Amino acid sequence: MPKIEVKNIYKIFGSRPKSIFPHLEKGMSKDEILEKTGHTVGINSASFQVEEGETFVIMGLSGSGKSTLIRCLNRLIEPTAGEVLIDGENILEASHQELLRMRQKKMAMVFQRFALFPHRTIVTNVEYGLEIQGVEDQIRREKAYEVLEMVGLKGYEESMPDQLSGGMQQRVGLARALATDPDVLLMDEAFSALDPLIKKEMQDELLELQAKMHKTIIFITHDLDEALKLGDRIAVMKDGKIVQIGTPEEILTDPANAYVKEFVQDVDRTKIITAATIMRKPDAVMAPKEGPRVAVRKMEEAGISSIYVTGKDKYLKGLVRIEDAVRLAKEGKDNLEEVIIKDIPTTAPDTPMVDLLPVAATTSYPIVVVDEDNKMLGIIVRVSVISGIIGRGD
Ligand SMILES: Nc1ncnc2c1ncn2[C@@H]1O[C@H](COP(=O)(O)OP(=O)(O)OP(=O)(O)O)[C@@H](O)[C@H]1O
Ligand SMILES: [Mg+2]
Repeated sequence: MPKIEVKNIYKIFGSRPKSIFPHLEKGMSKDEILEKTGHTVGINSASFQVEEGETFVIMGLSGSGKSTLIRCLNRLIEPTAGEVLIDGENILEASHQELLRMRQKKMAMVFQRFALFPHRTIVTNVEYGLEIQGVEDQIRREKAYEVLEMVGLKGYEESMPDQLSGGMQQRVGLARALATDPDVLLMDEAFSALDPLIKKEMQDELLELQAKMHKTIIFITHDLDEALKLGDRIAVMKDGKIVQIGTPEEILTDPANAYVKEFVQDVDRTKIITAATIMRKPDAVMAPKEGPRVAVRKMEEAGISSIYVTGKDKYLKGLVRIEDAVRLAKEGKDNLEEVIIKDIPTTAPDTPMVDLLPVAATTSYPIVVVDEDNKMLGIIVRVSVISGIIGRGD
């Protein structure tokens, strides 16, 4: 079961929201509807699912409906129609009481400018959510110290908010959201107000925290680089609609329409596209026991001058050059071991292309993609690195 499931959510702002549905059905645009009826289409039939532990990014231009959508998830905004299931339960049917409980325990929100209480110390700011839940003094103090340490603010517990920089205040906001140990974090442009270096630090911090916490995170941003860096998947919104959902690589390599294409055109693809995307199957591989004669024949058949040698379970042993195999064959030897070249470049499947470039430039062999057990997954020839950069993934 997905952690969050959103089915055909609509949000129309105006005095008679439901009267707008027939217009939408006829395909009238957001602009036309505003002009003719004075109603604003906030969300237009959005559907998506988020898995537990996933970071799901919502991206789009200003006014595309990102904040409206995230607020429908905890009903800070009441959708006009649709369903929102959290852990399989439709929260649009939840009572006021249940909703409060859910906001306190299950979901926490981090905003762009986290409104800290100016007259409270950092630690009592962080405790706030636990205080509302009636958690005992001692326990909530311990929890607040723990999460402040997690976000790198150990030692600032007794400071006041105005003694902290913007980036540090945003960390307090994050700590406050984490203090109640929610399953779901809703982050609306949480890092957008920070200057670039601090922003990068916070992104790295969130990735690090997430590697340990495995929360389900919905993260809104209008910054594509941020979306690509943080998102397991990205939803792109336009005029209240979700126009594409995909992994960062899918969004980059296969944009659904001109709007998405425009978003991604300036991205440095070399940072996103990985070894796994541009690798291909080697033309030929062989086992060491097949010997030099088989090696020569396989290379001749494939029209190549070297062949990969793999052991059990595709474990990479190395590479044999045709001249060495020919020599062994002439000498009447059966064992290839002595001519296997073991010092060949390898890389992990998730290595970004940018890190492959220097290797590709200095080696005369393809780069072999191996998993953590040194199992051969594929090879990358230099031309793939180059065509990957100019945007033709294959
Ligand atoms: N309370 C409201 N009343 C009327 N219209 C609203 C209201 N809130 C949002 N809207 C409209 O709904 C649409 C979506 O707004 P929303 O704030 O969700 O956009 P956004 O993608 O978060 O934009 P930004 O990047 O600027 O934060 C916009 O056209 C906006 O004008
Ligand atoms: Mg917004």
